[in-house]
Amino acid sequence: MNLISNPIQEISGDVICPGDKSISQRILIVGSLLNCDIKIKGFLNAQDPLSTMAALNQIGALIIKDGELVEIKNSSRFFKSSDSPIDLGNSGTGIRLLTGFISGLNLEATLIGDESLSQRPMSRVVDPLITMGKEIFTNNGKTPIKISGGSICDDFEYSMPIASAQVKSSLILASLSSRNTIKIEEKKVTRDHTERMIEHCGGKIDVKKTSKGKVITLHKQKLSEIFSYEVVGDFSSAAFIIVAALISKKSKVFIKNVGLNETRIGLLKVLLKMNANIDIINQRKICNEICGDLIVQSSDLVGINVPDHIIPNIIDEIPILCVAACFAKGETSIKNASELKIKESDRLKATSEGLNAMNVQHDLLDDGLIIKGSNEEIMPLKEIDSFGDHRIAMSFLVAGLRTKDGITVKNCNNIETSFPDFCNTMNSLGMKVHE
Ligand code: S3P
Repeated sequence: MNLISNPIQEISGDVICPGDKSISQRILIVGSLLNCDIKIKGFLNAQDPLSTMAALNQIGALIIKDGELVEIKNSSRFFKSSDSPIDLGNSGTGIRLLTGFISGLNLEATLIGDESLSQRPMSRVVDPLITMGKEIFTNNGKTPIKISGGSICDDFEYSMPIASAQVKSSLILASLSSRNTIKIEEKKVTRDHTERMIEHCGGKIDVKKTSKGKVITLHKQKLSEIFSYEVVGDFSSAAFIIVAALISKKSKVFIKNVGLNETRIGLLKVLLKMNANIDIINQRKICNEICGDLIVQSSDLVGINVPDHIIPNIIDEIPILCVAACFAKGETSIKNASELKIKESDRLKATSEGLNAMNVQHDLLDDGLIIKGSNEEIMPLKEIDSFGDHRIAMSFLVAGLRTKDGITVKNCNNIETSFPDFCNTMNSLGMKVHE
């Protein structure tokens, strides 16, 4: 499906931020281990969390979705191996977290994904799980991942070679589901939803900040019962609304219920440095996560050098940051971001090709991008390819609001994986996105 985004002058109104994708997936996994039924509110009804739900049901969980309400029925659960492959679709989080979780449960299973997921590296989780005692086979580090035997050891210690919340969470979940302890040293701080959720569910998890980063220790402790869980809004989805409001000429947008976990809001800090007009109100804690409401208004952005240490905390927001940079006066430089090459697409290349199509001056580096912005409207030279990547598609559709005659973005189906209501939400604020 191709989408067209037409120019507009103003966006305004109130929206509710869609549920957090990382948290929606984690509550299904962690919640499946508890000894009680759990009602989940605010669950992200999108393809990635739904793939994780189907995968858990395939190994014996009983998770029921009835309209907006999702319920984990633990009273009727019994985990079992799966004879048929478990398909995680487009979801890197789903496949990596479940590889750890299923390994800890001592089940046999083969995990697969769509064309994009089949290109992505799985050794980052499989290798440490093998060191922890599992027998797992892959196709040269790619899917299918065949979990066949072995068991997770106790007292495993791991120093993270890369900044990845998916790897960290996969290993923690392997230890949690096998009732073992683990200590993980993380040099670069990544999203900590797994740790917060385990703590929320009564698990014992210590997090010590050190001069070298963080040391996370999961102890043996039975999780307690929780009967409900509320998922806060996804900052990564709010990012598209925030940047749309910042770059449009006359705007004031109120975004309610945005997750503001410290490990996720790097983009907020970067945008504030770029002179963005964003206010946070009504900060509160929901299920051990911070959330709040944002008021965002049009701003005269300026380019900056994005600090290296913040990259893991803006990893999913870099494509939309690049769009903000197109309309910021001066240069914005993003380096140390080579992880972007192995996301749902090669996001450095995909962003650079989109910028070329929009005729925006920039340099593509091996590990980043330098974008030369201006406050002028853009005249795209051709259609933009999203490479089937939801975040690339949504980023360039947002850019469309500042074009002279609109922009066409190709292959937008995967917006379904993280923000299915993107077009309706953006159009309710005044954007003009359509097929
Ligand atoms: C995620 C972690 C990040 C992020 C992904 C979601 C998670 O990946 O890019 O969209 O839910 O843990 P990495 O941990 O591989 O950087």
